[in-house]
Amino acid sequence: MANPFTLGVASGEPLPDGVVLWTRLAVNPLSADPARPGGMAPRAVEVSWQLAEDERFTQGLRQGTAQALPAWAHSVHVRVSGLKAGTDYFYRFRTGGGQSPVGRTRTADDPESARPVRFAVASCQRYEHGFYTAYRHLAAERPDVVFHVGDYIYESRQSARVVRPLGPLPGETSRLHEYRQRYARYKTDPDLQAAHAAAPWVPTWDDHEVLDNYRGRGDGSAAFLRRRDAAYQAYYENLPIRVRPQGGNLQMYRRRTYGTVADFMVLDVRQHRDATTMLGAAQEQWLLSRLVTSPVRWRLLVQPLFFARRFVPGPAPNLRGDSWDGHQAQRSRILAANAPGLAVFSGDVHNAWAGELKADFLDPGSAVVGAEFVGTSITSMPPATDGPAVLAANPHLKFFDDHRGYLSCTVSGEELRVAFRAVDFVDNPGAPVRTVAEFVTKGSGLTSENTSSK
Ligand SMILES: [Fe+2]
Repeated sequence: MANPFTLGVASGEPLPDGVVLWTRLAVNPLSADPARPGGMAPRAVEVSWQLAEDERFTQGLRQGTAQALPAWAHSVHVRVSGLKAGTDYFYRFRTGGGQSPVGRTRTADDPESARPVRFAVASCQRYEHGFYTAYRHLAAERPDVVFHVGDYIYESRQSARVVRPLGPLPGETSRLHEYRQRYARYKTDPDLQAAHAAAPWVPTWDDHEVLDNYRGRGDGSAAFLRRRDAAYQAYYENLPIRVRPQGGNLQMYRRRTYGTVADFMVLDVRQHRDATTMLGAAQEQWLLSRLVTSPVRWRLLVQPLFFARRFVPGPAPNLRGDSWDGHQAQRSRILAANAPGLAVFSGDVHNAWAGELKADFLDPGSAVVGAEFVGTSITSMPPATDGPAVLAANPHLKFFDDHRGYLSCTVSGEELRVAFRAVDFVDNPGAPVRTVAEFVTKGSGLTSENTSSK
């Protein structure tokens, strides 16, 4: 067998005592053959894995084997437990066909730990729009954990802007083998592989992992549900997540806690959406109850969509329906919880924004109840946006920037610090990275730090 580790390695879902290790075998990643995703023959392949505390695999070595099954596109999800909290580990896989690269991962901090947490937030990586240079820089930072807030792939047919072509199967994906092949296309990228190999990821999805602007069960047709099933299955197969889809559903909303410092509440704004709510009743209940009872210093909502009010001056519509402005009653209930240390991390709009959350966005005297940081895109091109006009029309929004990049954050018992990291171009490889702005909050208002480019 040729080298099957063409899609790299990944880890995710860090707990104080465990992580998930991932790889997917693909000897021919771009294969368009529905019967052979990744060019793999339809039979099980035994994969052995190793994990240790050092890169030479001599300290605290653990190992085992797993079956890469054709039913799951030859993906492997190894759930390792019994590890030490807040500790770096290294891992690799081996088959008859060769050995994978080595990945670095890290467990979550012990529940008693007050150690600061370093994390990154990324989203929106349309392949044909450019190079994943931002991920190369993110990987170099080796954060404790990386959050991805959606549009990991785009199901759309290849766009008019083609910095690099999708290759075979450039049409809109709707069937399982098409989603699988689209993930494989994206995951052949060496910078994306480097970002996965540098730190554990906790991803959530937005719409393009399935279909542009879909919600819930779509139109309820058998055709749409088949498509959603296929998309959810391919999502699981290609990301280092802990749970599998069951009966056409995939449990995505969840909490990842780091010591006494950070409760990351990862939301699903698609699967449970109904006519009136973004999250559905069960997820809202889960969220509100934790917002109120969490004993941890910071409550960090990790989710795709612009959370604060964003009124766009000009011809209607001025408020976007497929965002929290389209679900104001549920947003108000979340803000009314008055959760201490609330911050929201978002994506979707392909530009960077920072702002303050207000109990009532239309009342200038209303209290500031948190902060929002909207990461830009890794590559996806933004719509034309008059940033200064939007800032002027929304006094609670404090910052706009029009570059591709990601968020680099540190949270401690004292403060949350967010650096907007940007690259100047994605149409060629090799862009340097710089910090275009840095904000600090201690739990209410936002302070902008003077930053020199670095
Ligand atoms: Fe996007």
